[in-house]
Amino acid sequence: MGPTPSGDPGEGPASAAWELLLPAASAPARTRGRSLQAALREAVRSGRLAPGTRLPSSRDLAADLGVSRGLVTEAYEQLTAEGYLRSGRGSGTWVGAAVRAAEPRAHDLAPRSPGARADFVPGTPDLALFPRAAWAAAHRGVLADLPHRELGYPDPRGLPRLRTALAELLARRRGVVADPERIVVVSGVAQATTLLGFALHGRGMRAVGVEDPGSPQHDALYASAGVAVVPLPVDDEGVAPEPLRASGVRAVVTTPAHQFPTGIAYSARRRTELLDWARSVDGIVLEDDYDGDFRYDRAPVGALQGLDPDHVAYTGSVSKSLVPGLRLGWLLVPESWSAEVVERKRTMDLGHPSLDQALFARFLERGDYDRQLRRCQRAYRDRRDALVAALDAHFPGAQVSGIAAGLHVIATLPRRYGPEERFLARVAAAGVAVRPLSAYAHTPAAPEGSEGVRLVLGYAHVPPARIAAGVRLMAEAATG
Ligand SMILES: Cc1ncc(COP(=O)(O)O)c(C=O)c1O
Repeated sequence: MGPTPSGDPGEGPASAAWELLLPAASAPARTRGRSLQAALREAVRSGRLAPGTRLPSSRDLAADLGVSRGLVTEAYEQLTAEGYLRSGRGSGTWVGAAVRAAEPRAHDLAPRSPGARADFVPGTPDLALFPRAAWAAAHRGVLADLPHRELGYPDPRGLPRLRTALAELLARRRGVVADPERIVVVSGVAQATTLLGFALHGRGMRAVGVEDPGSPQHDALYASAGVAVVPLPVDDEGVAPEPLRASGVRAVVTTPAHQFPTGIAYSARRRTELLDWARSVDGIVLEDDYDGDFRYDRAPVGALQGLDPDHVAYTGSVSKSLVPGLRLGWLLVPESWSAEVVERKRTMDLGHPSLDQALFARFLERGDYDRQLRRCQRAYRDRRDALVAALDAHFPGAQVSGIAAGLHVIATLPRRYGPEERFLARVAAAGVAVRPLSAYAHTPAAPEGSEGVRLVLGYAHVPPARIAAGVRLMAEAATG
């Protein structure tokens, strides 16, 4: 590619960053401008475009990407206004120093703050609750029983035995219309996302709507399939219908049971609107049911897929219910999408490891998985209660939402704890690892947000005794 940052001979991370913009450049005309801005923003946030990197002239970049110069100019102006880029008369445009490069959008979902005195980073269950004894028993049983033929290359969709057990589980617990013939065993929601990304690309869809705020995983996963993400605002009922319609996308990724990270459950009205939209554009809703098994004070919200299996692709994994390290999940796609997704899975890895599949099938069949869910449910409800009580005691006036489900809550602290930057610096200095809601936003809020400090607090991985102590430490640091 022609334009490269100054001092960069054309190779290396910065030139790769321009390539990252290519999927956005081939988004439908109506969404191309927003896609380009989102991709550029993400490149800066993720650090692929380092602070100080000089951007090509709008003319050069437009020529390289095959888009109009006006779109590039608009993207530069917008991102300059948002503080991601800087520009000076006659001196071009470069990546600003004060952007989030040092605090990338929360790619590090999993708590990994080994030195932290308290760690509330969301994304991981309690790894110590992994049922080692039951897993070991299932492993022994499978090795004793598994016919030799099942050690050959598996059906790319997965072992029939596991797909049957999963169909029973998903129908019973989540209200999914689960035909074992259409389940694909995958290595987590991440792989399901990539497979769907390729399927979208194969159908000429170069853009997919994602929730804003939302999971930080999607951008890179879809980009790897050549599909750009279009951030769509989430209101208190779910993805807002007007921006969705206006975006021109025909596919949207959602977390309807427990929106990540805001914690809301999509309203019945919004679910209907979403499905009406999918039918009207001959599109598809991708339902990420990442923590659908954890409900505390209310009846489970059934999967959206159960309402219209022809327009919803459903995915989930054991990353929250067992451990993420197993890399095991499932994907159910509408019948008309099945062949291409299965073929893609086949060419990607020739199918999921058979032994792991047989083991998990046995674990499901013997009721071990249900037992595990009940055990985690009890443990996590206690931890959630401990967290809510501690926030109440140490942050008077804080509002806590999204508490009815999942493994994290949203805490909105009174304005006196702000501004956010100062709060985060203080608690980090005290050794408390937390993520602000803003770390999951594609579109930065106004600098002086009226909401005060909003935190996404994961609690499932924190031993109960450390929850109150951690919140106290955070409160002392914040007011100190
Ligand atoms: C919204 C969301 N979806 C899915 C996942 C899990 O992905 P995987 O199943 O690939 O581990 C996560 C992980 O934290 C998540 O936050």
